Amino acid sequence: MIFVTGGAGYIGSHTCVELLNAGHDVTVFDNFCNSQPEALRRVERITCKQLHVIKGDICNLAEMKHALQISGAHAVIHFAGLKAVGDSEEHPLQYYENNVKGTLTLLQAMMSCGIKTIVFSSSATVYGIPKFLPYTEAHPLAATNTYGQTKLTVEHMLHDLYRSDTAWHIGILRYFNPVGAHASGLIGEDPQGTPNNLMPFVAQVAVGRREFLNVWGNDYDTPDGTGVRDYIHVVDLALGHLAALNRLQTQAQCLTANLGTGIGYSVLDMVRAFEQACSKPIPFQFSPRRAGDIASYFADPKLAAELLNWQAKRDLATMCQDTWRWQSQNPLGYSSV
Ligand code: NAD
Ligand code: WQD
Repeated sequence: MIFVTGGAGYIGSHTCVELLNAGHDVTVFDNFCNSQPEALRRVERITCKQLHVIKGDICNLAEMKHALQISGAHAVIHFAGLKAVGDSEEHPLQYYENNVKGTLTLLQAMMSCGIKTIVFSSSATVYGIPKFLPYTEAHPLAATNTYGQTKLTVEHMLHDLYRSDTAWHIGILRYFNPVGAHASGLIGEDPQGTPNNLMPFVAQVAVGRREFLNVWGNDYDTPDGTGVRDYIHVVDLALGHLAALNRLQTQAQCLTANLGTGIGYSVLDMVRAFEQACSKPIPFQFSPRRAGDIASYFADPKLAAELLNWQAKRDLATMCQDTWRWQSQNPLGYSSV
């Protein structure tokens, strides 16, 4: 049994599909603060398998212990947390509470239940301003915002835990920019309010929910002046978690790996690829740079290939086609039903 915190969210729901398809039993633990139970019903529809679902908060030790005990889990994939960079600057304590205290509480509950396998959702944001590219896992770490600081703090916590007890099996996965949706079009990213991230914003322009895209900056030192990122299909990312679980099964360890493609695309590359996928123009205007943005970053994915025997396979066209299928079939996300 795999216990998935935040399993109703964007990456969690796609990972649940792959776990169920691979024959695992799955318990989802989520407080639905940024997701809807409908996502889990759709995971069951896609896979024709049942999930166990427990509503609860990772910050509540008693709830966590009880949920882990009744689930009979032997491993945890830990997605639950808050993820909006701007919001984290406005509400730092909420981010420390959910991301740091929440993870601490989860680890305490795991320890008391004798569960010592965890895969943690970290982020490329822990590398901060690039000193060199592509980012390897050995790149210096320096978060530039509160959200990133919470991820870095949890990484330190996990290393300290492993140093104290080398019987733990810990996988720290640093995601680059997840985009795309399940090929069925039944699950996908469903941001609340105005999307912060590029791909959901572009998709909402395409479906008519927004008039035009603001391209934040066209004067960066990049081939076309717009920001460059390593976009990774969410299904590839989900499969990276299964690969990490497999690897962790072989021996106790604390591993860290980038999950990215190694390819950088600019904002304009993304707009053009999306126009191809949805067969309509995406109106956009150039606007000043967004505070805190970095010109360009992308992953060195070699270590993940070596350690996990995993690499991203889905290309940019597939990322855009799958996002468009999800968005056009569910113009208002899960609230469309
Ligand atoms: P998401 O918001 O869609 O999913 C997070 C889930 O966790 C939601 O279902 C939410 O309801 C739940 N949750 C939040 N706080 C909780 C709490 N205290 N108790 C129980 N459940 C709680 O986010 P996502 O995009 O699926 O991201 C998953 C993880 O990956 C997060 O930890 C995020 O920081 C990390 N990450 C995301 C990205 C990205 O761009 N999406 C990139 C790098 C890392
Ligand atoms: C991508 C590019 C923008 C929106 C964030 C977090 C990071 C990680 C992934 C969690 C940039 C440009 C965007 C728009 C635009 N999350 N853009 N107009 O900033 O690379 O990463 O999400 O761990 O921590 O910081 O992703 O999708 O916001 O931006 O021009 O309306 O698109 O300037 O160049 P980012 P993003």
